[in-house]
Amino acid sequence: MKLAKRSAIEPSLTLAMNSKAKEMKAKGVDVISFAAGEPDFNTPAHVKEAGKRAIDDNKTYYTPASGIPELKMAVAKKLERENGLKYTAANISINSGAKHSVFNVLSVLVDEKDEVIVPAPYWVSYSEMVRILGGKPVFIATDEKSGFKITTRDLEKAVTERTKVFLMNSPNNPTGAVYTKEELYDLARWLEEKDIVIVSDEIYEKILYDGFTHTSIASYSEKIKRKTVIVNGVSKAFSMTGWRIGYAAGPVPLIEAVNRLQGHATGNPSSIAQWASLVALTEDAGFIEEWVGEFKKRRDYIVGALNGIPGISCTVPRGAFYVFPNVQKLLSRTIGGEKIEDSMSLANYLLERGRISVVPGIAFGQDGYIRISFATSMENITEGMRRLKEAVGF
Ligand SMILES: Cc1ncc(COP(=O)(O)O)c(C=O)c1O
Repeated sequence: MKLAKRSAIEPSLTLAMNSKAKEMKAKGVDVISFAAGEPDFNTPAHVKEAGKRAIDDNKTYYTPASGIPELKMAVAKKLERENGLKYTAANISINSGAKHSVFNVLSVLVDEKDEVIVPAPYWVSYSEMVRILGGKPVFIATDEKSGFKITTRDLEKAVTERTKVFLMNSPNNPTGAVYTKEELYDLARWLEEKDIVIVSDEIYEKILYDGFTHTSIASYSEKIKRKTVIVNGVSKAFSMTGWRIGYAAGPVPLIEAVNRLQGHATGNPSSIAQWASLVALTEDAGFIEEWVGEFKKRRDYIVGALNGIPGISCTVPRGAFYVFPNVQKLLSRTIGGEKIEDSMSLANYLLERGRISVVPGIAFGQDGYIRISFATSMENITEGMRRLKEAVGF
């Protein structure tokens, strides 16, 4: 059987690490996983109740393919209340998770050979999505020196006649970098005159530390808003990863195209999850502050612990729930009789010898780093950091 060219997709290394860890666990090995990309809190009770109510009330039929009007309105109100952006329901598409939103949006924007600028390290799926669509991801490498952030100078160098989209993500997975309002507005000022669509993935907007606040690049000016698509969802802020609800907000013609695509490809996102998300977005969400407080305690501990291990240095993430320590000094060395060539072999070594699973930096387009999620208990973090230190020989 001859498969289409677009089937040549790289498997997700995050998922691969996860399944390897699961295999070991199934064999009785006590593995601590730091590979998860989801909060370890349960979905709040009132949201779960809303889901159950939706079933009992028979809200189990097809909904409009682009989502229920009530949820679109709730998203529009959220964007006005929290991000200072005015949209109507016609500007909103409800999708099956923010991942689906990004894919839908890129699908209606990217033609063969179109270029999509992606600051690296980047979330694993961006590059593969662009490739599936026949586009070309153009990466801008960042490191600790710039706080893992890009400037207009970097954009200037990356832009060509074929640049179609600038795909950004703040707060960032995997680095935890958060652009300040000034930094974002600098980018916006430069982008205002360019024929480039900005896709802004803001899924971690609520998970922020140290007084950092979230700004949406679309708030810079009407002109920028007209060329920006915001992607967000309920997965990370409300601990609803399995419910699969995300959304895109942007100019009407683009949203209509997304809705047409969705109408043929998947139809509506789960009706039950939509009704539960409506409650998540409209009722009191004070619990998020508590969750962020808990994440911060873990972040402080893990950053301190990592910086105490010779050969590892870790910057302080200002958002999301990952650390992205630099492990370059551990590479090209022999540890425990094994040659550690790159972040992949380090991750494998840590899994096999240290019984901890992390994601290699190469999964995010940047070798020399590993991603450790602190969306796990303090107990796991303490024991995991002890294992890491021991495994690398200290
Ligand atoms: C940057 C980023 N965008 C989008 C997503 C996907 O979110 P969802 O679970 O809503 O599809 C993730 C999940 O890991 C993410 O890290």
